[in-house]
Amino acid sequence: MTSEKLAELAVQAMKGAYAPYSGYKVGAALLCADGTVYTGCNIENASLTPTVCAERTAFFKAVSDGKREFSAIAVCGGKDGQIEGFFPPCGVCRQVMREFCRDDFTVHLVGAKGDIKTRTLAQLLPESFSL
Ligand code: THU
Repeated sequence: MTSEKLAELAVQAMKGAYAPYSGYKVGAALLCADGTVYTGCNIENASLTPTVCAERTAFFKAVSDGKREFSAIAVCGGKDGQIEGFFPPCGVCRQVMREFCRDDFTVHLVGAKGDIKTRTLAQLLPESFSL
């Protein structure tokens, strides 16, 4: 799967976002090692802390389906679903990636007009904690 195709799926997934409080819609598309893709969006809550990010929605869908090996994720987001700049994963999502992925796990940040900035998990979460 190309990074462009994964990016496209993330943009599509953003449409499912439930974000009545912040207005920020976020989408993610997670590529498993077996070639399957799980998408996710952010789901907000009136009491705020139960809010889940798009990346974690995608990971938890995949993990709950028995997937354990992952290659890459594409992420995009923006106010009212309008992508302007890149929308990098928050610290909590990076830690969830750490749980299931190695240093070379690829994170594609999807910007406006299909721009893609690619990073590894090691770059996004150096000297990370894991057991
Ligand atoms: N959000 C994500 O979906 N992913 C991130 O990595 C950063 C933040 C969501 C959570 C919340 O619904 C909105 O963006 C604004 O924080």
